[in-house]
Order: sequence, then structure tokens, then C-alpha cells
Amino acid sequence: MRKDKNLGPVLTGSFYICSMQSHPIGVFDSGYGGLTVFKEIAARLPQYDYIYLGDNGRAPYGNRSYDTVHQYTWECMQWFFKMGCPLVIVACNTASAKALRTIQQQDLPALGNDKRVLGVIRPTAEVIGNYTQTKEIGVLGTKGTVNSGSYLLEINKFFPDVNVHQLACPMWVPIIEYGEYNSEAADYFVKQYLDELLSKAPNIDTILLACTHYPLLMGKIKKYLPENIKVIAQGDIVAESLEDYLTRHPEMESSLTKGGSMQFFTTDDVNDFNDHGSIFFGKPVSAQHLHL
Ligand code: DGL
Repeated sequence: MRKDKNLGPVLTGSFYICSMQSHPIGVFDSGYGGLTVFKEIAARLPQYDYIYLGDNGRAPYGNRSYDTVHQYTWECMQWFFKMGCPLVIVACNTASAKALRTIQQQDLPALGNDKRVLGVIRPTAEVIGNYTQTKEIGVLGTKGTVNSGSYLLEINKFFPDVNVHQLACPMWVPIIEYGEYNSEAADYFVKQYLDELLSKAPNIDTILLACTHYPLLMGKIKKYLPENIKVIAQGDIVAESLEDYLTRHPEMESSLTKGGSMQFFTTDDVNDFNDHGSIFFGKPVSAQHLHL
């Protein structure tokens, strides 16, 4: 373990030092997907310090049980807190759908401190109805997100006149996590799920990518859809909502350090993360390994 001049959190091997002077915003996903959200957050709010963690070693989360997704997500949240993050964005729909409520209502109050964990479903549901003319929306996500019914519930609160047609796309995250997003297999599975959605709900004019991995398939998704259908990714929506949250919570805003730094951690292979992560993030990333 080594000391760091900047007093920032440092990881050497499986040890880390937590600085009391660095208070970054945490951004979490089961793997690479959250980088599509982090990219927009960092572009909109470049002044803050950030730590990104991809739990690639245990991804995908999409088919896992509530208990497992909660256990993994909470373990990661506790690590972020040790790293000095007062606020963590769960940039993963599956974890937002299956773990966030328990974390916000039970785990955080039991800790008895002022840490905050925010998800991606609520901010998306608050605006998604504004994009549709036909009042028919398609929501594509993992099995976990779709089966949780979270989007049906949340969109209905804000847009009761909008019909939501959900479809789970269980092959998409594995294809992306294994770096096969440009392959013929990706074409095959993108077309298959889109055909299925449109055959069930032909009047859809808006499709929400309710999984932060899916923007990596954006080119292929648009290729197999009629031009009049809008495809919405969440990155910008979540970034705007975070900016609004920080304006409304000055006590949280002032507790964050503003050094403009970014650190990336993965629970799996660092070289793989750097290769694929830079594509998701749109810039080179250099990750450190985290053994949880
Ligand atoms: N990016 C995660 C989401 O938004 C992927 C889920 C997974 O790991 O299956 O749902």
C-alpha cells in the first residue's frame, strides 16, 4: 500500500486508502453499461470528482434473484462509502429495480448517516411520456427490470394516459459484456427482439432503452426500426436529473469535492475493462482492479 500526494483514494493490489479529503460522486453498474450514463454526467457536471465501479466479475445481474442483486449492489455501495462518496448513482436499471428500494428504505437508515443512493428509473419515468405522440411506448430492459414492473408503475404515476409495452432482451447484455456488439449475432438478436415488440404493439412511436448497456447497440437498433420511432437512451436524462438534484440539495452539493478527477474500478480483468470501457465511455479509461 502506498501514500498518495493528493490524498485521493488509492488502490494498490487489493488494498485501498480512503482519503477524508476526497468526496467523489460514485457511479455504479453491474458492468460497462453505466459508463454510457457516466459519460453524460461527466460532460454536464465536469467539476466534481468521480469514482466509477463496474462489477463486471459478477455481471450480468439481469437474470439474478432479488436477494442476489441486492446483496451485490449493497456490497458495492458500502465500498463507495468507504472510498468517501457521499452520493452514489446506481446507473443500472436492474439494480435500481431490484435493490434500490431496500437500500433507500432499510440499509441506509440502518447506517444512520447522510449517504444517498439514487437510481435511474424514477428520473427516466418522469420525462419519458413527453416523447410520445401516439401514447404508446416500448420499454426494453433485462428480465429483472421488466419482471419487477418498476417502469409500468413509475411511468403510470407521471403519464397515466401512456401505454407501456415492455420486453425483456436477455441476450443483449451478454453480447455486449463479451464485446460482441458489432457481430452478426448482435444483428440477429437485435432484430429478433424488435420484431417481437413491434408485432405486439405496432403503434409504438418511442422506445426507451431501459438498460444502460443497450446504447452500445444503438446503431443496430435504429437499423431495424422504422424511422418514425424515436429511440431514447437514459444518459442525458439522468445527468440532467442529477444536476437538478444537486441544485435542490445544497448540503449534498457542498459536501462534494470539485477536483474534476475520475477513477475507474472493475471487479474483473482490467485490460478488458479498458478496451471495452473506452468504447462505452467515448474516451480512454484506465481502470484499477477491485477485489470485493
Ligand atoms: N446495465 C444494466 C441495466 O441497466 C445491465 C444489467 C445486467 O447486468 O444484466 O440493467
